[in-house]
Amino acid sequence: MSQLLTLSRAAHLIGVPRAVLQKRIAAGELPAFDGMVASADLTRLYPDLRLEDAGAFERTAKIREEAFGKRIRERVLPNQEVLAQRLAAQGEELEDVRRHLAHYHDLLEALRERIDRMAHASPSEQLAELARFIDAGLAGVLGSEAPADTVAVMDDMLRVMAAHVTVRPSGREFFVEGSETVLEAALRAGLAPSYGCGNGNCGLCKARVVSGEVRQVNHADYPLSASERAQGHALLCSCTAVSDLVVEMLEARAPDDIPAQELVAKVRSATPLAADLMLLHLQTPRSGRLRFLAGQGATLSVTGSTADFRADYPIASCPCDDRNLLFHIRLAPGDEFAGRLFAGALRPGDPVSVFGPWGAFVLRQDSANDIVFLACDTGFAPVKSLIEHAVAADVPGMLRLVWAATEPAGHYLENQCRAWADALETFSYATLVAPDAAAAGAVAARRALDEGDHAGRDFYVVGPAPFVSAAAAALVAAGLPAAQLRTEVL
Ligand code: FES
Repeated sequence: MSQLLTLSRAAHLIGVPRAVLQKRIAAGELPAFDGMVASADLTRLYPDLRLEDAGAFERTAKIREEAFGKRIRERVLPNQEVLAQRLAAQGEELEDVRRHLAHYHDLLEALRERIDRMAHASPSEQLAELARFIDAGLAGVLGSEAPADTVAVMDDMLRVMAAHVTVRPSGREFFVEGSETVLEAALRAGLAPSYGCGNGNCGLCKARVVSGEVRQVNHADYPLSASERAQGHALLCSCTAVSDLVVEMLEARAPDDIPAQELVAKVRSATPLAADLMLLHLQTPRSGRLRFLAGQGATLSVTGSTADFRADYPIASCPCDDRNLLFHIRLAPGDEFAGRLFAGALRPGDPVSVFGPWGAFVLRQDSANDIVFLACDTGFAPVKSLIEHAVAADVPGMLRLVWAATEPAGHYLENQCRAWADALETFSYATLVAPDAAAAGAVAARRALDEGDHAGRDFYVVGPAPFVSAAAAALVAAGLPAAQLRTEVL
């Protein structure tokens, strides 16, 4: 008996982006029924799927690393590998029982039809015929050697290890795994929920649980009123999901939905990416993450002995990346913050004030188009944030990056691009070198247009002003509608 699964659940189980399954549906390879797909069809399409390789087991490993830190749980629960193996064994048994039940159900239906057709036979003939029919039917059921439905077994495991959350009104879906709070899981999945402190004080993460059960796992001081509790409101930063949930929550859909914030982060590391380029890794406090949309930027400030040094930089990390903020900072004339950084004045643990977010170079919320990024030099930083977000949020389109550099060694994180291309069926990239930013813009746009016309593709162009102007002009000249073009000058 085959189970029907939502597309996001199926993609989660198989370990592929939803876009891959959508392409197979569009190609007629995978039947879909009201947005659902059958486990038997998935098994047919992915015959090599093994429980040991599946996403469910990867999640088990993650849970082992992250979820069972509390000593009490270590005493109560068996070793995580053992638990996973037992779950798999029970899942197979359950699937076996389901198949047998389905066979018995079919047998009873056939028996009913057979009885109707024997109305004119004598009672002794009827009894003999029924006995023969039942014997043959039982032999078929008991002799059935059909293999277990691997996808259905994995789905049973997933239901134990992770809770599925559907968000209203957006319809977005995500999974709460291990001991995560619902808020942490939503952020990891690329959603932009309303929240503030992250530790139960401000009430901004308050949401209504329409169905399902949550359980408080973190202390919260914010007082929910009796009527709010009665209506199902909960603080998402302090609760985890016990069962699958439907939750009404506020989500930021545009930069204007996110308030300006100010916080003090700590330097974790400063790593050279090139002679004049540094990767600055900041970590925000537990009680105050920076809320932003992928593609936005922030202002960084440090206090010197005589003055404050501040500068604006695009954020190179994804909002889904926990408390980490990454920046690609080039040593440029007049940038005193970068000067301090390259002079070694910022050491691990030093405070850095962060103001923001700013900027509107964010993904369109209303589009299911493929996405083409045209980036020049450190324009790769916001694109990296956008790509990581697109992957976390499992956006429907394919992702293409054309990264132009104005120096031969300018693709300072090409290994990152290679890793994405290796790991993601939905991502591809190309690099090019041009003598200056304007030439780079024209060549990058031409390269992207040569790969296909603009229909069904959104373009995101970022880099120095001459690059953006040249690329945008070429795209518009080729007929790209304004709604499908977003630009950012660095
Ligand atoms: S984010 Fe402040 S109470 Fe949850």
